[in-house]
Amino acid sequence: MAQRDRQPVERNLAMELVRVTEAASLSASVHMGKGDKELVDQAAVDAMRHVLEGISMDGVVVIGEGEKDEAPMLYNGERIGDGSNPQVDIAVDPIDGTTLLSKGLPGAIAVIALSARGTMNVPKEVFYMDKIAVGPEARDVIDINAPVADNLQKIAKVLGKKVADVTVIMLDRPRHEQLLKEVRAAGARIKLIGDGDVAAGIQAALPNSGVDVLLGVGGTPEGAITAAAIRCTGGALQCKPWPRDEAERQKCLDAGLDLEHVYMTEELVGGDDIFFSATGATTGELLKGVNFTATGAYTQSLVMRSRSGTIRWVDSIHDFNRLNKIRFTQA
Ligand code: FBP
Repeated sequence: MAQRDRQPVERNLAMELVRVTEAASLSASVHMGKGDKELVDQAAVDAMRHVLEGISMDGVVVIGEGEKDEAPMLYNGERIGDGSNPQVDIAVDPIDGTTLLSKGLPGAIAVIALSARGTMNVPKEVFYMDKIAVGPEARDVIDINAPVADNLQKIAKVLGKKVADVTVIMLDRPRHEQLLKEVRAAGARIKLIGDGDVAAGIQAALPNSGVDVLLGVGGTPEGAITAAAIRCTGGALQCKPWPRDEAERQKCLDAGLDLEHVYMTEELVGGDDIFFSATGATTGELLKGVNFTATGAYTQSLVMRSRSGTIRWVDSIHDFNRLNKIRFTQA
């Protein structure tokens, strides 16, 4: 790698990324409640791509909408930007919670993360990973291989509270039946969510969010994106491959994937130059959703940079009359 590429990324790209997630949420939210997941996703992808193209960088999509033949835009391996430095990896989830947005339910967000080239590492062979995510106080006490009750006791201890006051967030899925029993037996409080474990993981890693720990199995790409956010907050995420069935397990083994390997936050997203932005699509506990007005809309975003550790909530007012050249106003 050339000397110039090893320099830290001086520009706070996160401040540019907020325009990307705002555009995605604004565009997708037009279709709230129509019951069409593909429509909200496509609208978010189109808008995200449009704004991303205008950012000076040499980006490669590492976590995108899938492979080139199945995703016309933001596909894995796609080059984005004008080719100038910095060289970065890009992870997108144009809408995390497409079902939520398609039903007008709380908690859908548009998400993007950038890090220096070659620093995002996500196992492609496995669709799901088991996850545990916490904030900075508990980052050194969790162990995904330990019994749930042990983790909850340790988390409670470092937070200075009782297990009964620890709040666990997890996806409401049949696969979590046993986990749910164990968390209940340990005595912690539980928030079961329909979708959106990126926002849930971020909540677990932010102070005073009302959530102390994310537990359970969710998407692998979402795991890496959550890791990028958590690198910014100073918390920790541990993930372990979770094959859905014997066929997927065998496929992973044939590909040389170690199913016992625990992916730590820094392994999923390395380096010190990580930039993250998320914008609410529907109002949830993390972010307010898009609120359309007669002439525009309000949005709320979470914008973070790992090197500085600065966490910003960005409230924006969009005037569509003045933004009439931007694609989402044509929806
Ligand atoms: P989509 O918006 O892409 O549908 O993802 C929503 C989500 O809830 C993720 O946050 C989560 O990681 C994943 O789906 C869980 O997958 P599943 O719904 O198959 O359990």
